[in-house]
Amino acid sequence: MSLLEIDDVVVQFGGVTAVDGASFAAGAGRITGLIGPNGAGKTTCFNVISGLQRPTKGAVRFDGRTVTSMPVHRRSKRGMGRTFQRLEAFGSLSVRDNVRVAFDIHRGVTGLVRPAAANVDALLERVGIAAYARERADAIPTGTARLLELARCLAGDPKMLLLDEPSSGLDEAETDAFGELLAGLAAEGRGILMVEHDMDLVMTVCDEIHVLDFGRVIASGAPADIRSDRRVQEAYLGYSEDAADDAEASTGDADPADTRHDLPPVAAELSEVPR
Ligand SMILES: Nc1ncnc2c1ncn2[C@@H]1O[C@H](COP(=O)(O)OP(=O)(O)O)[C@@H](O)[C@H]1O
Ligand SMILES: [Mg+2]
Repeated sequence: MSLLEIDDVVVQFGGVTAVDGASFAAGAGRITGLIGPNGAGKTTCFNVISGLQRPTKGAVRFDGRTVTSMPVHRRSKRGMGRTFQRLEAFGSLSVRDNVRVAFDIHRGVTGLVRPAAANVDALLERVGIAAYARERADAIPTGTARLLELARCLAGDPKMLLLDEPSSGLDEAETDAFGELLAGLAAEGRGILMVEHDMDLVMTVCDEIHVLDFGRVIASGAPADIRSDRRVQEAYLGYSEDAADDAEASTGDADPADTRHDLPPVAAELSEVPR
């Protein structure tokens, strides 16, 4: 049994079916990618997993228990940590105080023990933002703020991390360092489920990838399998390369940018795959 299991989850918002019978799993000590075009239902799945959204149907199991109706704070206490696509740090506090507060929140319930400053600084060091410790959280670059989110999440010592587009705002060197950080966290036995648009990062660090399209899982597998999966190419590009070749032959013009989903990095990446 996997650390996290999503079983036949459906989420409807009025007439919109955001998630349409999705089932997938994410294991301990592994990095699992959840990818798909904009509007595919990735963030809604995260909301269902973390408890912000009650599914219309289906179940979520975490660490051997069904948590489908468990409130957010109890899931958090059981070891589920999450970062948000929209940043959630306290802007007027310093980076260090943001992490200190996160420690306080997680420990306060049990013992009101203040975290040793060394813990906070070690965590800042680990995620690579120690140089920003004294800066106000609303004055740091977006990429740094995402790493701050991760540090705040790690302050709760989660078994499972749910990361929603964690690398956006990071430059190439920072993204490489971030990939290594994720690998290190997984090596400690933590499970990581990550929604991410940077396909280089996804293909490099993920052990397994699930692809959502229109709220359904259309493919699951190792990065190499996902890269060459025809349904995945179609979902991202709105066409398969065979169809594109046909179109090109007849019109002399097949523009991969003219697609149903606007996701250039993925399009560029996947269209390079030899078939
Ligand atoms: N609170 C909501 N109310 C109505 N529709 C929503 C709501 N949240 C998401 N949706 C819709 O559900 C679909 C999936 O959205 P989302 O989960 O944010 O996709 P993704 O994160 O993959 O881009 C989209 O069509 C979106 O417009
Ligand atoms: Mg999203």
